[in-house]
Formats: sequence, structure tokens, C-alpha cells
Amino acid sequence: MNLLILHTTTTCHFTLQFETKYVRIGLSQNTCSYLDCSREMLLLVLGALLLLFCTLDVWYFLRGAYVFAQAWFQPRVRDMLAEQSIDGTVLPHDLDYMGHMNNSRYLRECDFARFHHYMRNGLFMASWKLGARLVVGASTIRYRRSLAFREAFEIRTKIVGWDEKAFYIEQRFVSKKDGFVSAVMLCRQNVVHCSPESILEFVCKRKIDCPDFPEDLKHWISFISASSQALRAESGLEEKNK
Ligand SMILES: *[C@@H]1O[C@H](CO)[C@@H](O)[C@H](O)[C@H]1NC(C)=O
Repeated sequence: MNLLILHTTTTCHFTLQFETKYVRIGLSQNTCSYLDCSREMLLLVLGALLLLFCTLDVWYFLRGAYVFAQAWFQPRVRDMLAEQSIDGTVLPHDLDYMGHMNNSRYLRECDFARFHHYMRNGLFMASWKLGARLVVGASTIRYRRSLAFREAFEIRTKIVGWDEKAFYIEQRFVSKKDGFVSAVMLCRQNVVHCSPESILEFVCKRKIDCPDFPEDLKHWISFISASSQALRAESGLEEKNK
């Protein structure tokens, strides 16, 4: 018996030749549903991705994973007080109506720079092992000169001090063009379920002396406690009024 496939068409019909007779057989249906099925799968995957991107900040999580992986392969930084820097460029995603890096994007970039910093000096792993959680309790940023589209910059991150409850971090956006500090941020990284001192001791296997707080940090810390006291007093008043 001489079996030949004469042609396949996009409407998914196979025409087979049995000697001289043309016969259409059931095979064509299977092929059809296979193609329909893969088209459906594709739509499903696209739909799922659309839903994911609409509801989750997918780029944030991907970027976070990338930063962790990147830091993983870089050498450890033994000095906990050392300044570390990572490079960045202003991308279309970062722009606002003014065509420069939007104010909110700076804080996002700072997040990644801090992840990177904590990964490289061992703070991240140590907190994880000690069951501590690092959460941002306060941040203040000062914008000094805007970063333009495609401008290259680096973020320099360093631990400037700590107390019983938190690390204080300074992060600077430095333009690669001329070394100008375009923005500077202070961040209070609260340590929950543990203390900064224990984490540092765990990493360095010895006690580390906290450096003297710079003037701006002292003011900032008093600003935080003044704000906290004011809000506490307010809620105290509200409770009395009830
Ligand atoms: C720019 O920042 C503001 C917050 O100040 C935010 O509401 C807005 O969505 C941001 N725009 C872009 C394009 O990131």
C-alpha cells in the first residue's frame, strides 16, 4: 500500500492518498485540536502575564533577584563601615512628566542598593540566620540636582551609625558626569526581633564601636523622635475624646 501525505494546509487538513483514492481521515481532527490547544495555551500564558504585570510590580521582584545574584558572585566586603557603590542609569521607566528621574524612583533605587550592600557585607545573611527582620522605619531624601534621561550615576551606600533599635544608612546619588551629589538620603533601617549590635557581632565575631553620629544625622534623629512624640500625643488626645 502506498501512503503519501500530499499536503498540509493551515486549515489543518491532511489529504492522504491510498493508491489512487483520496481519503480524508480522522488524523486531521487531532492535528486541528493540537494547534487550537497550543494557541489557547499561548493566550492563557499571555493573559496570566498580563494579570501578573497589572497586579504585581514584577520588575521590582526580578530586579531584586538579579541584585541578590549579582552580589552573591562578588567578593565579600569585610568592613561593615565601608562605603559601597553600585552603578545606575536613568531609563525611560524612571522618567516623569518633566523628563527627568521621578522623585519616587530614587527611593526604589536606594532599596536595591541597600539589598546589595547588605548582601556583600554579610548583614543580610546574618539577620536571616538570627531571625531578625530589617524594615525601613524612616527615610528622608534631599534632591539637589535632577538626573536626566540616560544619565549615568552611582549610588554610594554606607552605614553611618546605629542605636539599640536601628541602623542609620546614608545613600548618595553621584552623577558620573562630574561627581556632583544629585541626591542624598538618610534611612532608618529598623531591626525587628534582634538588635543591630548582635547582628554586627555575629558577622564580625567581635564588638564594633559605633562611629560618632554626624551633625545631620543627630538632627534627623531628633526630628524622628519629635514627630513620634507629637503623633503619640495626638492619639492620646483622641483616646481621651472618645
Ligand atoms: C512620580 O512620583 C509620584 C510621587 O511623587 C508618583 O505618584 C508618580 O506615579 C511617579 N511617576 C512615575 C512616572 O514614576
